[in-house]
Amino acid sequence: MKFIEVKNYQQMSETAAEYIMKKVLDNPSITLGLATGGTPTGTYQNLIKDHQKNGTSYQHVTTFNLDEYIGLAGTDKNSYRYYMDENLFNHIDIKKANTFVPKGNGRNIEEECNRYEDLLAGHGGIDLQVLGIGSNGHIGFNEPGTSFQSKTHIVNLAPSTIEANARFFNRPEEVPTQAITMGISTIMKSKEILLLVSGESKRDAMYQLLHSELNENFPASVLKNHPCVTIIADEAAILDLKIPMLKE
Ligand code: GLP
Repeated sequence: MKFIEVKNYQQMSETAAEYIMKKVLDNPSITLGLATGGTPTGTYQNLIKDHQKNGTSYQHVTTFNLDEYIGLAGTDKNSYRYYMDENLFNHIDIKKANTFVPKGNGRNIEEECNRYEDLLAGHGGIDLQVLGIGSNGHIGFNEPGTSFQSKTHIVNLAPSTIEANARFFNRPEEVPTQAITMGISTIMKSKEILLLVSGESKRDAMYQLLHSELNENFPASVLKNHPCVTIIADEAAILDLKIPMLKE
């Protein structure tokens, strides 16, 4: 694991955006894996700024998102499809047809999971996967206890995840209780992973990530088995953590 320590959220967002931009410039037809949540919004804002200022093009880029709530249509403002359109896709020159998010409101969700897994494999997999981390160590929506062998599947969201995500909804009861998520093995097939961690609420998760053994009860620990992971974390997330062994 490569570790980049930054001062704050703003610096994490700038550093992550520069990292992604460079990859896009090196490989204009890159396949990106994208995350939602509060963590990557600043990164996306910086990608948009750069696109507007420097013209970095996404015309040949393909994206696959990690997850989607079950029961929400893509037009629902709390769906991850809507989030991606609003926070990134509508502001860059990417072709919408090349942006994939699982469909959370279809009739047959099992079938959708298999379709998404096959679609991703058919595209040759992900070159660079952007990840956030849940305070309970989830990646995508793979909650503690998820098999490391899992493919795209249906999950019941942990109460702590529902609580953490309630801030995006009008009322906590509106948070869906289930989601579709890429599985852990799906994520691990990515050629490269960029994990973004910011804020005090992620400090415990960061500690466990650095100090725990591989453990399905802490999903992010699987990243220790991946050959190419870069973590960008800010001071609030790593305060007092001993991480010299990870620094380059
Ligand atoms: C969410 C998403 C994850 C995200 C994580 C952290 O529920 N499904 O992809 O990385 O939880 O979210 P946040 O960045 O808002 O802390």
